[in-house]
Amino acid sequence: MEQEERPRIQSIRGTRDILPPESEKWLWLEGKFRAVLSRFGYSEIRTPIFEHTELFQKGTGGSTDIVLKEMYTFQDKSGRSLTLRPEGTPSVARSVLEHGLLKRTKILKFYYFGPMFRYGRPQAGRFRQFDQVGAELLGDVTVEGDAESIHLHVMLLKELGLSAFTVKINSVGCPNCRPYYSRLIQDRLKESLDGLCDDCKVRFDRNPLRILDCKVDDCKKLVEKVPSILGSLCEECLHRFEALKERLESIGIDFEVDPGLVRGLDYYTKTAFEIHHHMLGAQSALGGGGRYDALMELYGGPHTPAVGFAAGLDRILLAVEKEKIEVPIPSGTDVYVVAVSDKARQKCFEVAALLRETIRAELDLAQRSLQAQMKAANSLAASFCVIIGEEELASGVFTVKNMKSGEQAKVSETELRSRLERELRP
Ligand code: HAM
Repeated sequence: MEQEERPRIQSIRGTRDILPPESEKWLWLEGKFRAVLSRFGYSEIRTPIFEHTELFQKGTGGSTDIVLKEMYTFQDKSGRSLTLRPEGTPSVARSVLEHGLLKRTKILKFYYFGPMFRYGRPQAGRFRQFDQVGAELLGDVTVEGDAESIHLHVMLLKELGLSAFTVKINSVGCPNCRPYYSRLIQDRLKESLDGLCDDCKVRFDRNPLRILDCKVDDCKKLVEKVPSILGSLCEECLHRFEALKERLESIGIDFEVDPGLVRGLDYYTKTAFEIHHHMLGAQSALGGGGRYDALMELYGGPHTPAVGFAAGLDRILLAVEKEKIEVPIPSGTDVYVVAVSDKARQKCFEVAALLRETIRAELDLAQRSLQAQMKAANSLAASFCVIIGEEELASGVFTVKNMKSGEQAKVSETELRSRLERELRP
């Protein structure tokens, strides 16, 4: 075969094509996830992939790396500023408000699947277009809601057979206690401001909590001077955090308390959590979320407590690979219709059409020899071949070969489909 030329136009850095059989893994994962989500009472919501830029500036937050550095923002032909969604939560909040969904019911449970876009530095497990599953519980104020969200995330991972992960939880406080803690961070770090990285110098004024999450070694060292947020929580936040731990323990969910976990988005209040995989290296967060009681008000809506999470599907599939979990990849077809000679091709086409009403069937579209067709049937792992040659054309009785046992049977055209249906789904 001639060497194929590399196409001049290639996929964009940080994006990728998901080709078969890899795409089968995505279908497997989605099927399993949808089953779990439905067991927890969540329904699917589909929101647009692009939104007004303001939605993320306000919701995700003006001091986050996502909004400051990572958004795919563009002007459309009428000069509006639009952004490819970097995350799903603001869109769900907007949609709930836009349609007045919480006027009809107290609690909403929505899930979504889909691509998100962030202009980060591509590396293993970090893409510029990546897929998330997200689950949002809106209108809920209870600690059981927080625990349910974490439980649901854990169950998604367990459903795939994953086990090498850790649940990390924290409380990031509320508008009552967080300002106090932010000032405490500023107090402890003001003498060492010059030692912080450039990003943290900005965070120092805008959102000091984010300094705790900085990955730069110098900042990590300085952060050791800062006491844990858990010592600064107000009574209500502390009470919720203790109750959350109890709820998780009561259903056997192992977790670690990580007071440095502050999440990269601005809307969190009280509960925050992440799940990290042990075999993924630097980009180990499979998912994360928390409570966001003030988001809907930012958009002009009524006070609406809410909690949710999103998990990265690309990373979860990497974890599936690392844990060597076998993903069942279905065979290429059930029946291969083989033409012994060119004369039989028309009949093969008709027979395949008939079978395809109920059965997965393939036929040769590349004018291959009999031998090459049998090879193709094997590589598709077909269970049966229907072989049609001159004799079969004349008699209307076809040869059906069981590809596993090698046995052959003669079957009339009228009986062919029902016979194969029986054989394939006994
Ligand atoms: P997030 O932590 O920004 O949260 O993202 C959730 C997950 O998406 C991450 O843990 C990671 O697995 C995946 N992810 C994020 N960025 C990338 C990337 N560049 N490449 C591959 N995977 C990535 C949120 O998005 C919030 N909306 C979660 C939430 C929902 N909070 C409340 N409700």
